[in-house]
Amino acid sequence: MITPEVPQNKSQYSPMAKSSVRNKPFSCFSDGFLYLGGALLAFLLVWSLWSYTVPHTFEPRGSTKSATNDARTQQCVQENPAVNLGYDPPDQTFYDDQELSYSIERPMKNWDEKRKEWLKRHPSFAPGARDRVVLVTGSQSKPCKNPIGDHLLLRFFKNKVDYCRIHGYDIFYNNVLLHPKMSSYWAKLPVVKAAMLAHPEAEWIWWVDSDAMFTDMEYKLPLRRYDYRNHNLVVHGWEKLIYKEKSWTALNAGVFLIRNCQWSMDFMEKWSSMGPMSSEYKKWGPIQRSVFKDKLFPESDDQSGLIYMLYQDKGLMDKIYLEGEYYFEGYWADIVPTYDNITEKYTELEKEDGKLRRRHAEKVSEQYGVFREPHLKEAGNGKGSWRRPFITHFTGCQPCSGDHNQIYHGETCWNGMVKALNFADNQVLRKYGFVHPDLLDSGTVTETPFDYPDDGPW
Ligand SMILES: *[C@@H]1O[C@H](CO)[C@@H](O)[C@H](O)[C@H]1NC(C)=O
Repeated sequence: MITPEVPQNKSQYSPMAKSSVRNKPFSCFSDGFLYLGGALLAFLLVWSLWSYTVPHTFEPRGSTKSATNDARTQQCVQENPAVNLGYDPPDQTFYDDQELSYSIERPMKNWDEKRKEWLKRHPSFAPGARDRVVLVTGSQSKPCKNPIGDHLLLRFFKNKVDYCRIHGYDIFYNNVLLHPKMSSYWAKLPVVKAAMLAHPEAEWIWWVDSDAMFTDMEYKLPLRRYDYRNHNLVVHGWEKLIYKEKSWTALNAGVFLIRNCQWSMDFMEKWSSMGPMSSEYKKWGPIQRSVFKDKLFPESDDQSGLIYMLYQDKGLMDKIYLEGEYYFEGYWADIVPTYDNITEKYTELEKEDGKLRRRHAEKVSEQYGVFREPHLKEAGNGKGSWRRPFITHFTGCQPCSGDHNQIYHGETCWNGMVKALNFADNQVLRKYGFVHPDLLDSGTVTETPFDYPDDGPW
């Protein structure tokens, strides 16, 4: 784990006009605004234009203008100053190494040092680095075969964007194979590796399949739980199902959180060596099936590969956290039938507690999640719970191809997805003053009256 030091020298934050003004606390903003007035605004405008045209090879500390700006920044001390998006010093970093490759085929060495070095040279990214998450997801490069497939994928993606906006996470949507042989369920590994290199500022890369969606927009990843014993990979799964039942569904590899560190680089190298890019790919399918009798298809897959590694080396449990306490992802067929009761329960809670009903800016939504927690003590977690399930995963529904698993009726899949999307969307739309009264009717909303849902039959 990398816990970058907080830079000593405050001026290293190189407060560029744009970000420091935009992120100031209100009181500071109004003081500064009244005090310095239009002249400052004009200066800021000039400076931000200048900052686009002049390469940032030095910090304009000496000038009178920057002194004014520094003074303002110090006067309005921020605990978590904005990151500086316009600053990349000329110092050599791993990006300048010609040998370095983003490809999953080429091993990465000394990544922890490289990342740490980069963070040292970009001190504005140091505060909060430990909790920084980049969500990565994606889909194929061609249009979906299912006529409503692209529409569904768009809504699944919108759902992820909503979640990330509420929690301040970045998101990357990839729709091209980064390694031509690593297709379908293997495609994520090359993307996750590339995302680690592209985001040295992030401690975690969070892969979420295109057919999984957030259905509790307030719930926040309990990252401290995974820091506590330095776990580097988090998946939804159960130890017993790996070592006793030997099931290929002992965990689900469609959603995982992986720490941006050397261990993960090494682990993904080993993991992907069971995939189609490897000369040994053919042998892995039969090996996986010899251990996991419920695996029906012949080819080696990423999920069986991951379980197989854990099965072979129980020591990996020190680094891999099998999250079974909440729906880190959950099977849609279990979850979808519970949405109506959950909605009812949450509405009851809001009727009882005015704090939960209070209208608020979307930006401060997390606080209302915290307010709700004491009411959810009895709700339980996971299966049988009336807590909103964190992630609902439409495994087997194949929204893009439409070739859903034949054990389901297509209608069950499509209606389930629509219901889940609107269930999630209602949590977002509330902040915009509207709600879908019918979860199966995506096109209709009603305005939520003041103090909703205190009055009226909801
Ligand atoms: C919803 O709640 C009702 C009443 O408590 C209960 O009978 C029903 O089984 C619940 N439905 C589900 C799917 O949990």
